[in-house]
Amino acid sequence: MALIGILTVSDRASRGEYEDRGGPGIRDYLDRVLTSTWEARPVVIADEQDEIESAIRQLAADGCCLVLTTGGTGPAERDVTVEATEAACARMLPGFGEAMRTESLKAVPTAILSRQTAGICEGALVINLPGQPKAIAECLDAVMAAVPYCVDLIGGPYLTTDPEHVDAFRPKSAQRPPA
Ligand code: MTE
Repeated sequence: MALIGILTVSDRASRGEYEDRGGPGIRDYLDRVLTSTWEARPVVIADEQDEIESAIRQLAADGCCLVLTTGGTGPAERDVTVEATEAACARMLPGFGEAMRTESLKAVPTAILSRQTAGICEGALVINLPGQPKAIAECLDAVMAAVPYCVDLIGGPYLTTDPEHVDAFRPKSAQRPPA
């Protein structure tokens, strides 16, 4: 069973002034795309760098193989999710941010404003997503095909996807026959 951390970073959602739509958006996406069993570990916190870093570390320590953050990737002063991700991760995977921005720019010119990145914290692949609910699917569609093999490489569970939505790529030597 794969544990997946869903970390909503939003001052207003954390104070209850605003309904969290990013977290449920991520959950809906994963429900549509993943065919292997998984369980969500949802967390909602304010735009505070130390708290975001601790939450990422805690989700990794709890055994999450994947942590998806939403919000706080832009240029505004309170946008500190990227700094927290860099602080929590021992190694960065800049290709994820590059691919997400490249695809997102086809949908909206302001995609260039997201500083979103990805990295490895303990056994977890951490990927930043913007806060806009529609951005979540646009960004995940750009990178999801590479996520299961990345999770294999960092010692996580064997994730599978519905090829109607996302055709996960693994080298032949890493493929397992269907269960
Ligand atoms: N990416 C996609 N795919 N779709 C979007 O609507 N919005 C952009 C950008 N990336 C957007 C997107 C905007 S307007 C901003 S300010 C940045 O993400 C940062 O958003 P965040 O601070 O909510 O993370």
